[in-house]
Amino acid sequence: MVLIGGVKSWRELLKPMLFISSAIPLVWIIYQGVYDQLGADPAKSIADYLGMWGLRFLLITLAVTSLRVWFGWRWQLPFRRMLGLYAFFYILLHLLAVVTFIMGWRIDILVKEVTERPFIIVGMLAFVLLIPLAVTSTQKWQRRLGRRWKKLHQLIYPIAILAVLHLVFLIRASYLEAFIYVCTVTLLLMQRVVSANKGRKKVV
Ligand code: HEM
Repeated sequence: MVLIGGVKSWRELLKPMLFISSAIPLVWIIYQGVYDQLGADPAKSIADYLGMWGLRFLLITLAVTSLRVWFGWRWQLPFRRMLGLYAFFYILLHLLAVVTFIMGWRIDILVKEVTERPFIIVGMLAFVLLIPLAVTSTQKWQRRLGRRWKKLHQLIYPIAILAVLHLVFLIRASYLEAFIYVCTVTLLLMQRVVSANKGRKKVV
């Protein structure tokens, strides 16, 4: 069956739709900037907003596998790479916003903050660990690394913990919001632990 304009399956249609809708948060913050709707502290608004979307995409990427395990859904699996790259994209923009609008590209301030403030240390660590995942996200790298690819991409678990710690250490975020993110990460990681244990029992 042909759906729209020669598109044969919903998945074919879903991919560009998901790609475009994932860019909406970026378009929205640009719109707010252009129309002067960023509030009293635009630098902070932009940095916080991009950080929140980076964190959300990180958790959505983790949830892709959990949804398969919990509900048997598979339709979302082909979108994991795109969602993970969006997480990296928003986090990179967040870092650029912090370095540009808050630190004014003062490398001395960046070095001082990175070495002294726990929430920046964990944020930076999460970002650095994300780089190899983004670089090796292609099928070419997957083939080249073989079994090591899966091991490398398990870095997503410590990254998620560090990212959520970054939010908790900031404390400025509402306690309820931080609590919701902590619970979400805990739930998603618990699913991995339970699945790993089941797998081990099967092997034994
Ligand atoms: C995985 C990586 C990261 C994630 C998911 C992330 C996420 C976030 C989130 C959600 C916030 C907003 C918290 C709130 O609403 O109060 C935030 C704020 C902040 N982040 Fe990150 N972040 C990451 C990496 C970094 C890095 C590498 C830096 C290093 C410079 C950084 C510096 C900051 C700063 C300075 C703020 C506070 C901005 C302000 O309101 O003045 N973050 N981050």
